[in-house]
Amino acid sequence: MKKLIIANWKLNPSTLKDAQALAASISVKAKNKVVLCPPTIYLSNIQYPNIGAQDCFWQEKGAFTGQVSALQLKDLKIKYCIIGHSERRAVGDTDEMVNAKAKALLAQNIIPVICIGFGTTVEHDDLEVTDILKSQLDVDLAGVDKSKVIVAYEPVWAIGTGKNATSEHVEKISIFIKTKYGVPIVLYGGSANAANAKEFLEQQNVGGLLVGGASLNATDFNKIINL
Ligand code: PGA
Repeated sequence: MKKLIIANWKLNPSTLKDAQALAASISVKAKNKVVLCPPTIYLSNIQYPNIGAQDCFWQEKGAFTGQVSALQLKDLKIKYCIIGHSERRAVGDTDEMVNAKAKALLAQNIIPVICIGFGTTVEHDDLEVTDILKSQLDVDLAGVDKSKVIVAYEPVWAIGTGKNATSEHVEKISIFIKTKYGVPIVLYGGSANAANAKEFLEQQNVGGLLVGGASLNATDFNKIINL
């Protein structure tokens, strides 16, 4: 079955030329479904079948310096938008904000990719992790049509560290999120790479991957999307 692989380029690369070259080197006929999420400033200049944004603001327009609205993303034909990433939560995004962003995106028919897992540690057992995720999802998904969102489980200690959760743990967490909230697709993120991706993708309830660092290397990313 096709899985969903989302590339989160974060604040990379540093020039539009490099961003276009990276996008051009990613296979458009991969075995899995692929979404590229470049930095906002490149969104209208990247050619790829599925493009996503890395964040948005919940208001449509007005006096909100520096923000980008879901309405503007829709105008650029953006189909997906990551929200609640731990790097956003680390600079102040709250679950209430994530909830408002999810609603704003759905109002424009953009699929929110809601990241959870901020605040978890490698020492937490499955039960402690599910408690933290529940406290986030109860607010993130309040009043949201859960059948229309994607959730990405990203244990914060695994992001950009080269350490990753076990595929068994991720499968258990994915089952919890799917059954408790009725979310159709749960992704895993956190140091996913060409060497470990297969193990996660083989899990029945893991719907795919949110890939950071490894998505900046075309050779590695092409391997992941063709598993
Ligand atoms: P990483 O990032 O793959 O570099 O750990 C994942 C993410 O932050 O979405």
